[in-house]
Amino acid sequence: MSQRVKVKQILQDEKTDYPVVVKGWIRSFRNNQFIALNDGSTNNNIQVVLDMDSVTPDLLKRLTTGAAISVSGQVIPSMGKGQRVEVKAIELEILGDCDPEKYPLQLKNRPSLEYLREIAHLRFRTNTFGAIFRLRHSLAFAVHKFFNERGFVYLHTPIITASDAEGAGEMFHVTSFDIKNPPLTESGEIDYKEDFFGRATNLTVSGQLEGELGAMAFGDIYTFGPTFRAENSNTARHLAEFWMIEPEMAFYDLEDNMNLAEAFIKSVIGYALENNKEDLEFLAQRLAEEEKQKPQQERSEMGLIEKLEFVLNNEFMRLTYTEAIDILKNSKPNKSKKFNYLIEDWGADLQSEHERYLVEKHFKKPVILTDYPKAIKAFYMKQNEDGKTVRAMDILFPGIGEIVGGSQREENYDKLVTRMQEMHLPVEEMSWYLDTRRFGTAPHAGFGLGFERLVLFVTGMGNIRDVIPFPRTPKSAEF
Ligand code: 4AD
Ligand code: MG
Repeated sequence: MSQRVKVKQILQDEKTDYPVVVKGWIRSFRNNQFIALNDGSTNNNIQVVLDMDSVTPDLLKRLTTGAAISVSGQVIPSMGKGQRVEVKAIELEILGDCDPEKYPLQLKNRPSLEYLREIAHLRFRTNTFGAIFRLRHSLAFAVHKFFNERGFVYLHTPIITASDAEGAGEMFHVTSFDIKNPPLTESGEIDYKEDFFGRATNLTVSGQLEGELGAMAFGDIYTFGPTFRAENSNTARHLAEFWMIEPEMAFYDLEDNMNLAEAFIKSVIGYALENNKEDLEFLAQRLAEEEKQKPQQERSEMGLIEKLEFVLNNEFMRLTYTEAIDILKNSKPNKSKKFNYLIEDWGADLQSEHERYLVEKHFKKPVILTDYPKAIKAFYMKQNEDGKTVRAMDILFPGIGEIVGGSQREENYDKLVTRMQEMHLPVEEMSWYLDTRRFGTAPHAGFGLGFERLVLFVTGMGNIRDVIPFPRTPKSAEF
């Protein structure tokens, strides 16, 4: 028997007139003769042509949308429109039936994205999600490629940890206690000494702190793994479980950090443009149709592919938080009180409406904001001479808001400890982290990029729940 060949391969090869075995799921069946078969390797189906005389009525009934089949036959030039080649079936076997009365993915009624979220276990079989998750794969591959080519070490930081890297207290606890009946100390508190790890633990919110330990030995490292935040943000940009890429580089200052982040984003977007043309064209078309439903002034000026090329070919705008506050203070939506959070004073935390104003209305390109007030940023950021700001950088993207958060790190032991004390962090418990500042400390910097926010941008989708296979969000952990 000839080897199974993937549909993508058959469609892409120049040759015809050779035997193949194809396997996949039926997308449609018409005229009792033509099967559109999809195997997930591409959104394009291969047309399988049946010899009508040899098909029994019983088999015909079972050729339904969603059924899994195996076909051996001959690849021949197609007479019909729409495809160069097709497979003339010689033998057809049904591997798995699919009841058309019950299968939710019929071609006739185009299911909404919301509905597909409810059947996320089947949505991979649609064109939209096929394209999204092939792109997600490519972007993940491009991430590793980028860092590998630059000599970074991929470091696996722990998922279970005792520290709150961001100090924001948004952690999921990890315990093996019977939560109805945990052991208590004499004073009546939960006795974590008795717990599995002998202490209170949680799911990591970031691999950065451990990443810094690696950078102080390897020079350049990156992490790429799941991170968890118990923040009750029910938005189209937040997940409780998301994947983050966190490079950390010894001997980098803030500017080196920004340069790397910009090159990194451009590189992975460039990879997708080069390697996922078909899927991007499909998603661009999808987005264009969606945009048509919107009122004229809300439509975006660029198509998906244009937008990606624009990011690739233009420098990101760089400015300080202080400069941004000036722009926002004097902006139309601030003066006419259109912002939900009005910008009055220096020191205000930027909300996503402000970030999006800067990116989408004012600069109309990606923006890197630097030197934020220390009061609204994490403890580990390097303090500026002014005593007010830290060497932070956030990268803001159109349609997304914050896609990257990073900084140069405070490498001075005394300054770092003082800041930790000011912020009431457990200095003794974090001596392992502080050791890097005691034993050969060096300037270093890093950033974190939210992988789903990147996938959101590249696919042009509107909701982060549609770019991760099985989203975890407040009140939802299906599948
Ligand atoms: O800005 P954040 O919180 O930074 C850190 O965690 C640092 N330790 C990173 C570092 O310097 N190594 O998160 C980084 C990025 C954000 O810019 C955003 O893209 C993404 O992670 N992110 C989320 N993505 C989806 N859902 C959430 N709830 C997210 N929270 C942050
Ligand atoms: Mg941030």
